[in-house]
Amino acid sequence: MSFQFLVDSVKQQQQISLFRQRTVISEQFDNQIIIDGKSYLNFSSNDYLGLNNHPDINNALKEGANRFGTCASASSLITGYNYAHQALEETVCEWLNKPRCLLFSSGFAANTGVIQALAKNNIKFCLDKLSHASLIDSVIHDKNLFKRFAHNNYQQLDDLLEKHQDLDQIIVSEGVFSMDGDRADIVKLNQLAKKYQAKTYIDDAHAIGVIGNEGQGSSFYHLNDITMATFGKAVATNGAFITCDEEMFHYLINFSRHYIYSTAMSPAIAWATIKSIELIKKEHWRREKITELSQIFSANLDDKVKLLPTTSSIHAIVIGDAGKTLITANKLKSKGIWLTPIRPPTVAKQSSRLRVTINSNHKEKDIIYLAQCINEAII
Ligand SMILES: Cc1ncc(COP(=O)(O)O)c(C=O)c1O
Repeated sequence: MSFQFLVDSVKQQQQISLFRQRTVISEQFDNQIIIDGKSYLNFSSNDYLGLNNHPDINNALKEGANRFGTCASASSLITGYNYAHQALEETVCEWLNKPRCLLFSSGFAANTGVIQALAKNNIKFCLDKLSHASLIDSVIHDKNLFKRFAHNNYQQLDDLLEKHQDLDQIIVSEGVFSMDGDRADIVKLNQLAKKYQAKTYIDDAHAIGVIGNEGQGSSFYHLNDITMATFGKAVATNGAFITCDEEMFHYLINFSRHYIYSTAMSPAIAWATIKSIELIKKEHWRREKITELSQIFSANLDDKVKLLPTTSSIHAIVIGDAGKTLITANKLKSKGIWLTPIRPPTVAKQSSRLRVTINSNHKEKDIIYLAQCINEAII
């Protein structure tokens, strides 16, 4: 039978506890989700600042739809770039203190679109070992294009950069690592870039909104050559942006195929995103709440529960075996806690984990309850 691989591959995933399927969320309010008529406390959401469904953002979305439409109806270089996009780009530039911004329909598209456009030019990318799938997928087709350095190992990165200094090099890392929750040393990365006349490309998907005095992510610590961030997490809308300088901006508009050949992001969403950024900048209490709740969480965990060190919303508890992680997540589910187990290939083999996200709309009592349930579930 042809296409037998469809059935065989899925069966194999099931046998090794790596089968994935979707879950229908029928309702969602604050940090509660309803699945099959049952309510759960959601600790797997990337709505870090609790802004999803904020009335001001929803109103801006309606206003944006009425003024500019729900759809851009064309790619940016045809007639899809309108006032809402321009205003959002300017808002981001001012927020991150960079001259230029480009919008993409998703973070995945932005990473692929930028890196593939740059990859044509005999460039060497130096990627942190824990880089997101979208970064890896952008270079993986050509093994001469990239090198990987051990996670946050700047000596190894220095050695790599030294070895290839005859080439244009780009250091690729993340402001906050998606599955571990720790951070790259942005100042160090930019120092190394300067030393070797390289450039920095920082994926701030999990840092934007959460890190920095106004939520400007890793750009609070040092201006990167290129920063990418999605609007689909703390910003609570959709799409993504990159910031860069003038030269890079014109290059990408001319050579990034994802940018050129894709419909521009929804202008209504762009308008709503401006409102979200306004709230992110001024509502400091949201970031402070994450810190406060995170401290309560770790203080209430038993010593046997090993949390990876973090100063973000992401708290990883590595269990190891995928099957054991599934069982633990199911035990928590029976207590009304939703924690989607994270398994390979999202993380390395034998490092399956519970990835707890603490958001500013969680309540102290929920965090204490979560810690108690985890203490009981982990043996
Ligand atoms: C580190 C990182 N980069 C990029 C992306 C992709 O962003 P988007 O969801 O907007 O495609 C994600 C999303 O999961 C991510 O975690």
